[in-house]
Amino acid sequence: PLLSECFNLHDFEAIARRTMKKGAWGYYSSAADDEITLRENHSAYHRIWFRPQILVDVANINLSTTMLGTKVDAPFYVTATALGKLGHPEGEVLLTRAARSHNVIQMIPTLASCSFDELVDARQGDQVQWLQLYVNKDRDITKRIVQNAERRGCKGLFITVDAPQLGRREKDMRLKFTDSGSNVQKGTKTDNTQGAARAISSFIDPSLSWADIPWFQSITKMPIILKGVQRVEDVLRAVEAGVQGVVLSNHGGRQLDFARSGIEILAETMPVLRQHGLDKKIDVFVDGGVRRGTDIIKAMCLGAKGVGIGRPFLYAMSTYGQAGVERVMQLLKDEMEMNMRLIGCAKIEDLHPGLLDTRGLFVH
Ligand code: FNR
Repeated sequence: PLLSECFNLHDFEAIARRTMKKGAWGYYSSAADDEITLRENHSAYHRIWFRPQILVDVANINLSTTMLGTKVDAPFYVTATALGKLGHPEGEVLLTRAARSHNVIQMIPTLASCSFDELVDARQGDQVQWLQLYVNKDRDITKRIVQNAERRGCKGLFITVDAPQLGRREKDMRLKFTDSGSNVQKGTKTDNTQGAARAISSFIDPSLSWADIPWFQSITKMPIILKGVQRVEDVLRAVEAGVQGVVLSNHGGRQLDFARSGIEILAETMPVLRQHGLDKKIDVFVDGGVRRGTDIIKAMCLGAKGVGIGRPFLYAMSTYGQAGVERVMQLLKDEMEMNMRLIGCAKIEDLHPGLLDTRGLFVH
């Protein structure tokens, strides 16, 4: 189909399933075990309903907001996803360019197919990027990666904390990747018989703990955000540890099956933070299963600072290149604008929990 005939994010997934190389599709689309969490990530949004307010001037809608001090045109960002060249020969640099054209932030993955330098060099003007970090058993390597990222202008360090071991993604294992996607972690011996995920992850340190956080704070001035937090107790602990943010995320359902959705954890977390007067102390992001403008609006109503999106950008990149990714961003902006109007909110700051009915959210 023509790009202009893709009317929503689901369309891109359907086309990707039909046209992508099997191994790449397997790696991108797969999730852990029975993929219950993968499905729950999106269906949790279906359990939240709107309580629109009427007779508000919605002639002009403004979607812009601020994330970690950066002004962006819409409250979503391109989250880190590894191995971009499995889907498209040019890889993540296409995401960099698309993010630029829509003025949203890209999180650079440790395991990008393009080199870190290539992705930073592709940045234009005052474009902002963050770094996603998998912590290496060799802390000297980790320190070099972090300090290099800071030196090269990255504005946030997102440490992935939900992957002491990579989850078992059986679709990925069955459709074993043979495509060569990664040029990072060169010299690491890989075993392709277990699928892409296993092949690239053996360097990740499973001994990472809260005790390591001060060390990260000592080696960088970048804001530190823990990516993959799954319970309010750990959000409170993150505040205590003095980090600047958390991403409520289950890694797109690719790690622990039966992990709860990020949006449910957000609804659990924000009231507790407010109750303790801590909601201004830490920035809370959320990702997983976001496919509609209404999903983003719901997360912002509940108090998120921003919403990460993964697979839809990969599917669009794999099938239509940079233009596809830009179309996905435009569709999300269009859907947000229209639905902001319909719930009676002209700007992001006006979104609040009272616009939602979340009674069904916690009923599984
Ligand atoms: C990921 N994700 C991820 N996260 C991370 O911290 N480091 C990584 O290398 C990757 N790699 C990766 C690859 C692929 C193919 C996917 C789909 C996901 C997780 C990602 O950042 C994010 O948490 C989820 O993708 C969000 O869910 P959706 O938007 O894909 O549903």
